[in-house]
Amino acid sequence: MKGIVAYDSVNGNTKQVAEAMAEQIKADGHEAELINLKDGAPSPTGDLLLIGSPTRAMKMTKGTAKFIESLDVGYWKTRPVYMFDTVGPLSKDDAKRKGQLEMIGSGGKNAAEKMRDLATQRGLHVRPEVMHFAVVGMWGPLASDSLSRAKDAAKRVLAEANK
Ligand SMILES: Cc1cc2nc3c(=O)[nH]c(=O)nc-3n(C[C@H](O)[C@H](O)[C@H](O)COP(=O)(O)O)c2cc1C
Repeated sequence: MKGIVAYDSVNGNTKQVAEAMAEQIKADGHEAELINLKDGAPSPTGDLLLIGSPTRAMKMTKGTAKFIESLDVGYWKTRPVYMFDTVGPLSKDDAKRKGQLEMIGSGGKNAAEKMRDLATQRGLHVRPEVMHFAVVGMWGPLASDSLSRAKDAAKRVLAEANK
């Protein structure tokens, strides 16, 4: 199986999350391709696609929107597409942050939900559940568990895609 992780990142936090996902895909014995959207990526091919953006003013970055708009619908309408974002600043306290992430998840107003909705409108095969990863300052760094959560998420989507 080939997993693609495409990301945009202003300060490097979303990049680290994307890298952790790609590492996990490889560690599980699959092929992984990491795409930095700043490089102006064409529509990729693979078995599953993860797309990540920082949340900036409650939105995805322009580069992320452009990428979603440019994806080949014919190809990605049958293969799973997953959206994730980074959000913050959230609490450094693990329990508090968990609660904040749950609230953000139920609020449905961050970059990843908007990415999902844009891709759904285009007819892509987007998974409804999106993933949020915390930073603890406005510009980072990532929360202590964000990279392990990113790896867990990659494992989960691989298992789902393998069914
Ligand atoms: C100008 C600006 C606006 C931001 N707006 C939001 C926001 O609306 N919601 C949010 O959760 N985080 C917001 N953040 C925090 C970013 O999500 C955080 O900087 C991001 O996770 C960093 O990812 P990156 O290093 O990949 O760019 C904002 C940060 C900046 C600098």
